[in-house]
Amino acid sequence: METKEVINRHVTLKDYIVGEPKESDFVLKSCTFSLKLEEGSQDVLVKHLYFSIDPYQRARMKYYSSSHKAPFASVLNPGSVIDTYGVAKVIISNHPDFKEGDLVVGMIGIQDYSIITPATGLLTKIKYTDIPLSNYVGVLGLTGFTAYAGLHNVCSPQKGEQVFISAACGSVGHLAGQFAKLQGCHVVGSCGSKQKVELLKNRLGFDDAFNYKEEPDLNAALKRCFPRGIDIYFENVGGDMLEAVLENMNVHGRIAVCGAISQYNRDKPEGVTDPMKLVYQRIKMQGFLAADYLNSFPEFIEKTRGYLIDGRIESLEDISDGLESVPSAFVGLFQGHNVGKKIVRLHA
Ligand SMILES: NC(=O)c1ccc[n+]([C@@H]2O[C@H](COP(=O)([O-])OP(=O)(O)OC[C@H]3O[C@@H](n4cnc5c(N)ncnc54)[C@H](OP(=O)(O)O)[C@@H]3O)[C@@H](O)[C@H]2O)c1
Repeated sequence: METKEVINRHVTLKDYIVGEPKESDFVLKSCTFSLKLEEGSQDVLVKHLYFSIDPYQRARMKYYSSSHKAPFASVLNPGSVIDTYGVAKVIISNHPDFKEGDLVVGMIGIQDYSIITPATGLLTKIKYTDIPLSNYVGVLGLTGFTAYAGLHNVCSPQKGEQVFISAACGSVGHLAGQFAKLQGCHVVGSCGSKQKVELLKNRLGFDDAFNYKEEPDLNAALKRCFPRGIDIYFENVGGDMLEAVLENMNVHGRIAVCGAISQYNRDKPEGVTDPMKLVYQRIKMQGFLAADYLNSFPEFIEKTRGYLIDGRIESLEDISDGLESVPSAFVGLFQGHNVGKKIVRLHA
């Protein structure tokens, strides 16, 4: 049978990124691609459907000198295909565990098609197809799991505790807040627009929210929202917000350091000016990676799918179409353009 040739487009970096990312830092390239597998291989050929767009990728896009170790094993070199968590459909399979038409999730290149060796453990078959496939890169993907693991495994929330979430209308934040509400906590979020404040309070059930861009004094804003102090802080932004939170933490408070997006484009990240605040309040401040808790992933999927089906949590998705939209999708994360999980859709 004749092998079909297609055009396979991919997104790559023009060069390592310095400072704020710009759309012009990315380039869309294409090459011809044969829809066939090597005979005797155990590979699968997949067509890509949804890509997760994540701020953590910024750290993979910069140049590291020999004296500064990269935080991730795989730096994204200019010219190579950018990979991310995504959903794909099996077109051809030489692997006994996968068949044509299977829907899969895992690390895939930001391109139309790819050949993957499932033996590397990069691909998982999607079990439930009664929910939107895009959910597998958001609420039921690593994003949702980050919110779940950061809140439950790191912070152990108790009923009635006071919880603060920054970047609360973002992908991880809006879910962390809803998981905390399910635990009976009092939840307040910060975000960067009036529209996001309304969404958090009126649609997602947050007890309160504020627009940090309109608050001249973050310490005062937190004092207003937390007259009884903060027990748990789900940290997504760092910088001034972290400083203000440390002024408002209760004794034996917990801080889950999920990320610090305000620092990602800086040459020299800001630090905590007075670490003694952690001492006096006996605060546990712990960085974590969702990957540390993967043994809870099956439990997370079952529970969260249940919450979605019975309407106890809502997933906000911000979807744009086509590989051409990847640069603006990524750059927009640093400008607060996304509402909920940023996803790029292809072929779906
Ligand atoms: N530890 C882990 O395993 C793990 C996994 C996934 C993500 N993360 C981290 O979790 C955090 C949230 O990630 P996400 O995927 O959910 O992204 P996201 O919140 O969906 O998008 C980023 C949001 O951050 C806010 N932001 C951007 N620049 C900011 C600044 N200078 N100051 C304050 N807020 C700013 C923007 O919202 P506003 O409108 O509110 O400004 C933007 O929408 C990031 O720090 C990310 O690196 C960690």
